[in-house]
Amino acid sequence: MTSPNELRRLIRQTLEMYRGMGLEQIPHVAVPVDSPAAAPPRGGGREPAAPLNRPRAMPTGSNSLGSNSLGSNPSGAPWERPFKPGAGVAETPAVSPSSAPLASAEPAVLSPTPKVVRPAPTSLPVQATREERASALAVLQQGVVNCQRCPELASTRTKTVFGVGDPGAKILFLGEAPGADEDAQGEPFVGRAGQLLNDIITACRLKREEIYICNVLKCRPPGNRTPLEGECSNCREFLDGQLAAIDPEYIVCWGTTAAQNLLQTKQPIGKLRQQFFRQGRAKVVCTYHPSYLLRNPPAKKEVWEDMKFWRQEMGVDLSQGKKSGS
Ligand code: URA
Repeated sequence: MTSPNELRRLIRQTLEMYRGMGLEQIPHVAVPVDSPAAAPPRGGGREPAAPLNRPRAMPTGSNSLGSNSLGSNPSGAPWERPFKPGAGVAETPAVSPSSAPLASAEPAVLSPTPKVVRPAPTSLPVQATREERASALAVLQQGVVNCQRCPELASTRTKTVFGVGDPGAKILFLGEAPGADEDAQGEPFVGRAGQLLNDIITACRLKREEIYICNVLKCRPPGNRTPLEGECSNCREFLDGQLAAIDPEYIVCWGTTAAQNLLQTKQPIGKLRQQFFRQGRAKVVCTYHPSYLLRNPPAKKEVWEDMKFWRQEMGVDLSQGKKSGS
């Protein structure tokens, strides 16, 4: 059990790390404790660790979807709704399952031999309060607002897009970069891809408010081009700061850029799916980006398999009509 003095020391150390990143002001942020999104206290009320060796999902085409089985729904995904292929794609970053090259390191898979992908950022202690996490995030956000590290992005952005959600969330969603809608509103995943993401969240029996959502890049790349490697490294400190402040239990990487950047690998997204990786204390899963699904609806079936795979680890069986856990 960490003593209050030790806790204070760790928080001071983390805030000093942020200061080291050029973030001087530590604003106070009030987070309503009775917010509906309030998560259970850190260190308590969390699911027991689940087995790490998971079978791969049923092969595409096999009917393992229970009440969400294929029928008239060609993708098998419960959030399926009619849409016009290709419409609005320009409004979201272009993500293809094989784009966005990065470092060559093989990512660490949790099974059979867990090893750390990269040193975990100095996380706030598990006992840190939501207010402390929110304060740490506010410091970082100020750094993003002032950031000029990528001259092209800084000169073309309308708003920076830091992240949104519960600072005490146990789930963090990581996307690629803001698109036009996000750049205008300053919030991640509010355009067409965001609508689809919301549908997926609901199908996973979650609420958007209980997830912290952010991107690898905090600024929109002009024309929604794929983020450059240098831009991703410039922004990585902010992402690491967010991971340290939130210290989630689960990270879902949406698309190639998110997965390859977080895990520092060049492996294609198709190879990263259906397994858990370790990042700090978080279990990481990777799947296709919602923008990719808008262009390639049949891939919704794979994403649904990935969601079932991930939620099963959290004790929720999405194949069944009702919950078996949280
Ligand atoms: N695509 C992303 O990766 N992030 C957003 O915020 C919106 C679209």
